[in-house]
Amino acid sequence: MTFSLDQFRLDGKVAIVTGAGGRGNSIGRAYALGLAAAGAAVVVADINKDGAVSVANEIIQAGGHAAGVQTDITDRASVEAMVAAAEKQFGGVDILVNNAALMVEIVATPAIQHTTDQWNRAFAVNVTGALHCAQAVAPLMARRGGGKIINQVSGGAYPPSTVYGITKIALVGLTTTLARELGSQKINVNAIAPGNTMSDAGALLTPDSSPFVKALEASIAMRMRGQPDELVGPLLLLCSPAGDWMTGQVLHVDGGWIIRP
Ligand SMILES: NC(=O)c1ccc[n+]([C@@H]2O[C@H](COP(=O)([O-])OP(=O)(O)OC[C@H]3O[C@@H](n4cnc5c(N)ncnc54)[C@H](O)[C@@H]3O)[C@@H](O)[C@H]2O)c1
Repeated sequence: MTFSLDQFRLDGKVAIVTGAGGRGNSIGRAYALGLAAAGAAVVVADINKDGAVSVANEIIQAGGHAAGVQTDITDRASVEAMVAAAEKQFGGVDILVNNAALMVEIVATPAIQHTTDQWNRAFAVNVTGALHCAQAVAPLMARRGGGKIINQVSGGAYPPSTVYGITKIALVGLTTTLARELGSQKINVNAIAPGNTMSDAGALLTPDSSPFVKALEASIAMRMRGQPDELVGPLLLLCSPAGDWMTGQVLHVDGGWIIRP
C-alpha cells in the first residue's frame, strides 16, 4: 500500500481522553481538540464535570462531535459509565488516551514523607486509573477489529526522583505489558513522555520566575520548554493508522531533555 497523509485522519473514530477538562490550558484539552480536528468524536472525561463539558462544547462549536462526561478513573463503576456513554452516544471506542493524573498535587512531597494514604492515592489515579480505563475499553476495541491506547507518562520518570515519577515509570511498565497482551487483538499500546510543558499545571510547577527554569532550559537540547499543542502531532501518530506498526514504545516529546548529559 502506498503511504498517504490520509493515514493520519481519524474520521469515524471514537476517542476518549481522560483528564481533558480540569484546568483551562491543559494538555488533555489540546489532545481532545487535536483528535477532533483529525475527525474523531471525542469523549472528554474528567473528574471536573464543568471543565469536561466546557471542552466538549468548544469542540462542538467548532463543528466537531464531543461529549463531556464526569469520570473518576479511580472508581471502576465511573469508568464503566464513561465507556457506556461513549458507546451509547458514538457507537464504540477506538482510541483511549490515559492522560488524567495527579501531578502538581503530589510532586513536591518527598517520598520519605508520603503517608500511606497519599502514596495509595497517587497510584490509584496515575496507574490504577489507567488500568481501569484500558480494561473497560479493550473488549470494545477488540470487537471493532483493534484500537489504540496511549498512556501519558512523563520525562519525570527518567529517572524517577519523586513519587510522581515512580507512578509514571509504573505506567511505562503497564504500557509494555498491555502492548504484549493486546497486540494480537490489533490494539496498539504506546506512551508519550512530555518534558516540561506550559499547561496551566506546568506553569504552576515551574513559573517563569522560578530560579530553576534557567538551569532546566540549559539542560534541554533545544533550550525550550514545550506548549500543549506541541504534543498533539506525536499523539496523532500514535492514534492513527500512520502508527499501526508501533507498539510498546515511549515517545519522548521534550526538545531533547531525555538526552541531557
Ligand atoms: N505539564 C507538564 O509539564 C507535564 C509533563 C509531563 C507529563 N505531564 C502529564 O500530562 C498530563 C496532563 O498534564 P497537565 O499539565 O495538563 O495537568 P492537569 O493537572 O491540568 O491535568 C490533569 C487532569 O487530570 C484530572 N484528574 C485528576 N484526577 C482525576 C480522576 N481521579 N479522574 C479523572 N480525572 C482526574 C484533573 O482534573 C486534570 O484535568 C498528566 O498525565 C501529567 O502527568 C505533564
